[in-house]
Amino acid sequence: MISPALFLFSSFLCHVAVAGRTCPRPDDLPFATVTPLKTSYDPGEQITYFCKPGYVSRGGMRRFTCPLTGIWPINTLRCTARVCPFAGILENGAVRYTTFEYPNTISFSCNNGFFLNGTKSAQCTEEGIWSPNLPVCSPVTCPPPPTPKFAVLSAYEPLAGNRSVYGKQAVFKCLPNYAMFGNDTATCTAHGNWTQLPECREVKCPFPIRPDNGFVNYPAKEALTYKDKATYGCHDTYVLDGPEEVECNKFGNWSAQPSCKASCKVSVKKATVIFEGERVKIQEKFKNGMLHGQKVSFFCKNKEKKCSYTEDAQCIDGTFEVPSCFKEHSSLAFWKTDAWDVKPC
Ligand SMILES: *[C@@H]1O[C@H](CO)[C@@H](O)[C@H](O)[C@H]1NC(C)=O
Ligand SMILES: *[C@@H]1O[C@H](CO)[C@@H](O)[C@H](O)[C@H]1NC(C)=O
Ligand SMILES: *[C@@H]1O[C@H](CO)[C@@H](O)[C@H](O)[C@H]1NC(C)=O
Ligand SMILES: *[C@@H]1O[C@H](CO)[C@@H](O)[C@H](O)[C@H]1NC(C)=O
Ligand SMILES: *[C@@H]1O[C@H](CO)[C@@H](O)[C@H](O)[C@H]1NC(C)=O
Repeated sequence: MISPALFLFSSFLCHVAVAGRTCPRPDDLPFATVTPLKTSYDPGEQITYFCKPGYVSRGGMRRFTCPLTGIWPINTLRCTARVCPFAGILENGAVRYTTFEYPNTISFSCNNGFFLNGTKSAQCTEEGIWSPNLPVCSPVTCPPPPTPKFAVLSAYEPLAGNRSVYGKQAVFKCLPNYAMFGNDTATCTAHGNWTQLPECREVKCPFPIRPDNGFVNYPAKEALTYKDKATYGCHDTYVLDGPEEVECNKFGNWSAQPSCKASCKVSVKKATVIFEGERVKIQEKFKNGMLHGQKVSFFCKNKEKKCSYTEDAQCIDGTFEVPSCFKEHSSLAFWKTDAWDVKPC
């Protein structure tokens, strides 16, 4: 018979022998969990290290048994973050990132003329995939440009579906007799709309007024409009001052207003002058008068130096003034030398 006292003592010893070798709470490992997690383990009890979601170790998990020594074996388990597929390049855009590991987020932007077709950012998930899916940068497009009133598209190359890509142009033309205000070219902008479209307006010009001593011809129409033309002419001795043909411009005005200018009578009876680089006898060359605008050079004498110089005179609308330095000799004064026969100064 064992005394109760001995039984108690021996069970106490036994307890000490076992209790003295329990394993402590296992070390924390970064990004790993332990199951079961307790403050102490009896020898023979098992624990398992698992990497937390989003982290992986080379060997997968690690299982340990609490040894009789009560000291957990050295744990070499390393849990590292999962890495998502490379996502550092976005065509026609840019990616902002630090690393592509769980649980990082990366963000996206697109170049001018492109828009983010997808999300602004994505996260590397526990499973090592990007969520949501990576976006793309798609080109901004414009719908077909509206055609202004009284205009037609003269150049336009749309894509399939009639849309245009950023930067493409459309060129407009006005219908005949309509004048364009603004730029004939519109460009598809990065906003997906078109730059300012031109305007086509009907433009009328007043009927041209017949010039004095002349005439004007223009189309026999109810009204004269943009780009219509009128032609001018003058009667016999009159000369047109301005272009023969004028055009109705987009401001409702004619490009010019020509008039007819009178020719001049030459009062000098006898003189040699220079006309268009040649010496001519004025009384012969201009016996029918001088036309408006024609110009001659008279010879004058420098008495002191006994030489000659020239001075110009021009016919302006019926008026022709002979230079005051010019002296016309009487035809009887045959002994006098004419200025044009004197050596030049
Ligand atoms: C957006 O991207 C998808 C897939 O790349 C593409 O099929 C679609 O046409 C794009 N949308 C636009 C408006 O460009
Ligand atoms: C594109 O434009 C043409 C001519 O303006 C039209 O006939 C055609 O239906 C348009 N197509 C689409 C897809 O809008
Ligand atoms: C018309 O616009 C285009 C671009 O849209 C520009 O290159 C051109 O210089 C403009 N023309 C005029 C006359 O302003
Ligand atoms: C195009 O759209 C942008 C942005 O919405 C706006 O600021 C601009 O005025 C528009 N341009 C035209 C010509 O309508
Ligand atoms: C026509 O031209 C004249 C002179 O060049 C100018 O004073 C007038 O304002 C113009 N008229 C119009 C409608 O532009």
